[in-house]
Amino acid sequence: MKKTARSKSAAKPSAKAAAPSAVTSRSGRFTHGPAADVAAFSESISFDWRLWRHDIRGSIAHATMLCTIGVLTKAERDAIASGLEQIGSEIEAGKFQWKPELEDVHMNIEAELTQRVPAGAKLHTARSRNDQVALDVRLWTRDELRSLEGELGSLQRALVALGERAGDTLIPGYTHLQRGQPVYFAHHCLAYVEMFDRDRQRLGDCYKRVNVCPLGSGALAGTTLPINRELVALQLGFVDEAGRPQVTQNSMDGVSDRDFVVEFCADAALAAVHLSRLAEDVILWATSEFNFIKIADAYTTGSSLMPQKKNPDVAELTRGKSGRVIGNLVSLLTLLKGLPMTYNRDMQEDKERLFDTADTVRTCVRLMAAMLDNTNVKAANCNAAAADPQLLATDLADYLVRKGMPFRQAHHVIGAVVALAEKAGKPLDQVTLEEFRSTSDQFGPDVADVFDLKKAMQRRNLVGAPGTAEVKKQIARWKKLLGN
Ligand code: ARG
Repeated sequence: MKKTARSKSAAKPSAKAAAPSAVTSRSGRFTHGPAADVAAFSESISFDWRLWRHDIRGSIAHATMLCTIGVLTKAERDAIASGLEQIGSEIEAGKFQWKPELEDVHMNIEAELTQRVPAGAKLHTARSRNDQVALDVRLWTRDELRSLEGELGSLQRALVALGERAGDTLIPGYTHLQRGQPVYFAHHCLAYVEMFDRDRQRLGDCYKRVNVCPLGSGALAGTTLPINRELVALQLGFVDEAGRPQVTQNSMDGVSDRDFVVEFCADAALAAVHLSRLAEDVILWATSEFNFIKIADAYTTGSSLMPQKKNPDVAELTRGKSGRVIGNLVSLLTLLKGLPMTYNRDMQEDKERLFDTADTVRTCVRLMAAMLDNTNVKAANCNAAAADPQLLATDLADYLVRKGMPFRQAHHVIGAVVALAEKAGKPLDQVTLEEFRSTSDQFGPDVADVFDLKKAMQRRNLVGAPGTAEVKKQIARWKKLLGN
């Protein structure tokens, strides 16, 4: 978000307290403002200023509704809306003066509005900061969900493109990080495309629960005034697929629910785990030991001491940052677990965790996609590794199964063949027919055919397998789905 970044640098507020202004959370019962260190301790403007866009949007919708029920005149509603829009453009331009003594984004905007527009004093009718902050965070999370989903789509496209660039390049597929069976490099890439697709689906599912309007819950018990919650929901796009307004159904739950924050952070944490696994593969592939890929210089860093070094820092940092994303999720769960009904100030602590998760995961996704777009597959090295005939030991067992041998027995026989080759110090494809037949008389001259890698790949032609035709089909399927 370019605009947010700009206002962040231009107008990021600090946490110094000063004199209270006319709009304040402290009613007539207080004779003093908070102690300076209490104000500094409790302010949230230094981080929740990021909700300004959503706060303004929510307030305009609320004012429009208040007008329909006669709390505001049309002129007052319009003055409030244009006052808020004006404040919005000042924030965007980095010209707005945030005041830490006003605690948070809600009070800052409302206080400024009321100074400019007298009717601003009516804006908080039938509203509490408790339902206001719940609304703002939902609106913010909704935007983030969409944007992360989009970024994950770009990463999927980068993976499909990398797989396609690899063409018919083969690599060993690993279990226990030991060579297992040959797969197309593209098949490995597509495994991640599947993972990130589940992440996108989860985010889409989370959206449904985020997309419910809590405004009208008041502080915890709604309001005695005849507000129209559905109208607010409709204006803010809190609607289901049929366009029906979605509003929270219990005022206490409405203000105290942060499940949607937890859910988003959980979905993002799982995506971060997937990113971390991809990063680990990339790091391994870029080692001299594997040497399967070359990452462009722009996406690597050097060593201050060892001149030959080229380090995969983007992948390493992505792997590292997944730790804090997981930590954010655990923080949130811990934050909420002991809270009695309903709103408690503890909940202010949700935002930094939420913001950090969203920022971190989105940046990692974007950088990983860009890095993959600038990565080349070293086909010769990959194919050389995949040419290891041991990778076809399972195919040898399948050969015996085709001859009618039970698989358990075939597995045992091939184990003996592998031991025999190892003892003779030769690769599996150099074992003679005679040696093969010393382990089972089911072996015939056609056993040599098993080591034809091209044919071996063609044989893996079932759905989901790394067969030649199947992988092509999957690439085509994803290209169509993702619009590559
Ligand atoms: N800054 C507060 C938060 O983030 C807003 C709600 C404050 N409500 C209250 N009753 N103090 O949670």
